[in-house]
Amino acid sequence: MYPDRVVSGMRPTGAMHLGHYHGALKSWITMQSEQPCLFFVADWHALTTHYDDPSIIVKSSWDMIVDWLAAGIDPSQATIFIQSRVPEHAELHLLLSMATPLGWLERVPTYKDQIENLANRDLSTYGFLGYPLLQAADVLIYRASEVPVGEDQVPHIEMMREIARRFNHLYGKEKGFEEKALDAVKKLGSKRAKLYMELRTGYQQDGHDEALEQARAMLNDAGSLSNIDRERLFGYLEGSRKLILVEPQVKLSTSSRLPGLDGRKMSKSYANAIGLREDPETVTKKIRTMPTDPARVRRTDPGDPRKCPVWQLHEVYTSEAVKDWVVKGCTSAGIGCIECKQPVIDEVLAEQQPMHERAQQYLDDPSLVRAIVADGCDVARKLAQETMRDVREAMGLDYT
Ligand code: TRP
Ligand code: SF4
Repeated sequence: MYPDRVVSGMRPTGAMHLGHYHGALKSWITMQSEQPCLFFVADWHALTTHYDDPSIIVKSSWDMIVDWLAAGIDPSQATIFIQSRVPEHAELHLLLSMATPLGWLERVPTYKDQIENLANRDLSTYGFLGYPLLQAADVLIYRASEVPVGEDQVPHIEMMREIARRFNHLYGKEKGFEEKALDAVKKLGSKRAKLYMELRTGYQQDGHDEALEQARAMLNDAGSLSNIDRERLFGYLEGSRKLILVEPQVKLSTSSRLPGLDGRKMSKSYANAIGLREDPETVTKKIRTMPTDPARVRRTDPGDPRKCPVWQLHEVYTSEAVKDWVVKGCTSAGIGCIECKQPVIDEVLAEQQPMHERAQQYLDDPSLVRAIVADGCDVARKLAQETMRDVREAMGLDYT
């Protein structure tokens, strides 16, 4: 119905680093030329954890958008917008909240994790608990078919699918269909009919995929059913028809993970990051001073690339030939570490060069960025309003 639409968001963390580029932006850039894409700044999401310090959100959002554009997100292909500028997200979040069991939110793994990890913040708030539901609204409001996210976000997308399914189950009924389906259920015989209804509830309400499989197998085995009744029961199993909200699929990012300068995950808070548009001198210096295999105290000591963070960068950036040269040279002490780092420096600088160029026009004239985002918000708002009309109508809130 809404083929291939992609939606993804990022919290406004300010200037991006190369970890963001390799982890997410690169795959966004590939997708934007293949399918309709909506990319947004999740500024309300920032408030769910940093509600006490909102002063940096606006600047962080603009900085992040400039970096998206610098990286190659193309506003003539993708829609770029800011979540809070499309308040329909909040309306859908509210309406979805009515029928969302608390347990679904409490069970999301990031909920307990984050409360523990961010122990210095008080996250026992309503907003923080509802964070994955807000995320569900962000995606469902565009009837997206795919959501590119990292591994850590997969449970959120799974919950989002359950939310959509439940919504359609509660509000998507169509006249006539239901009676015919229920007649067909009776034809199963009382024992099977009971099981069918239980499995249907198990799938629709509680999201048990095995229940769906079991019910389908049972229908295939039920020889007494006519084909048309069987089709009805397959349909009834999953909904009843009108698909008001669409269940999106996860699109796991296939891009390589880029480690930081110390070998740990690249992150601003570890101070091991290379900024997306950091100047070439600083980048060169940062890589030159990276730690290497500690066994190579002297130039004549052989090393092991597997113990060296520089090698991890080679894995992302350099050719097979260069990597062979590194392995041989390192393990035989044939090359020095500074020598070994040079091809990485060259590749990183080459990657960043077009980013500096693309960013220049936006730095010279920030009103260009404002205009791109204003257009993107208009496009997004129109799509969101269409969905909200259907949602309100389905929920009996149509006063026109
Ligand atoms: N929760 C995501 C993160 O922290 C950001 C986000 C908000 C998002 N809404 C979204 C991602 C919708 C994908 C789709 O990274
Ligand atoms: Fe690391 Fe290269 Fe030095 Fe080996 S030669 S320790 S891979 S920087």
